[in-house]
Amino acid sequence: MQLIVKPQRLPFIYTWVVVAAVIAGSYALVFLTDPAPASANRMHWYVARASGMTAYILLAIAVLLGASSSTGLFDRWKLRKLTTQLHQFSALLVFPFLFFHLWGLHADTMVPFPLPSLFIPFDAGYRALAVGLGILVMYGWILLIVTSYFREKLNAKVWRTIHVLAFPMFIAVTLHGLFSGTDTGKPWAVLIYAVPSALFLLVFGRRLFAARSRRQTPKSKEHARPV
Ligand code: HEM
Repeated sequence: MQLIVKPQRLPFIYTWVVVAAVIAGSYALVFLTDPAPASANRMHWYVARASGMTAYILLAIAVLLGASSSTGLFDRWKLRKLTTQLHQFSALLVFPFLFFHLWGLHADTMVPFPLPSLFIPFDAGYRALAVGLGILVMYGWILLIVTSYFREKLNAKVWRTIHVLAFPMFIAVTLHGLFSGTDTGKPWAVLIYAVPSALFLLVFGRRLFAARSRRQTPKSKEHARPV
């Protein structure tokens, strides 16, 4: 698997052009409408929260599709190619929304987020532990994507070990959202965390069960062998 294959390069560049346009457009809007500073801050706070939720959903889709494709679930409906592409696109799309998440937090002046506290784990003055988990996942996700891009050049075991880190990353980012987010108590936010988490438990359980029965199969075959 090569993540950014030729036909995907244009949408990838397009995504970053859109990101730059949204940022420029939002500053232009603030400049043109000249709102009071508080309402401008509110806009950035909304951006931070909305993009955090979007990045979470995309990361969850990437993890769930990746984990379930190796169970052979999609082969039955001949959907493997489509789900692999969706897996890769959603994994990459986490970055623009993560960028908006950090930009929104930095631009919002209500809770100060200077650059070091955006990038140094557990340094933030606001819910340091939960925010630190988000920062660790950001680095983990970068590592995962870069190693997928260079998969052919890497030892298969190394690549796989890094790739399965996506499971603890999903758990960590769920805890990050739950314990640092403003919206955690709202029913729609509970749903956003609960649905992927339930699916994650289901897929993870299925994989564990499949791995256990694979380990047991040779033994039972040995017993069945005629003496
Ligand atoms: C892949 C990485 C990340 C994902 C998917 C993610 C996702 C989320 C989500 C879903 C929320 C809850 C938003 C809400 O309740 O409305 C949140 C909140 C937050 N995140 Fe992240 N995050 C990530 C990385 C980071 C990083 C690197 C930082 C760095 C400082 C960070 C800082 C915060 C803060 C401060 C909040 C609380 C915002 C608020 O609701 O007031 N996150 N994040």
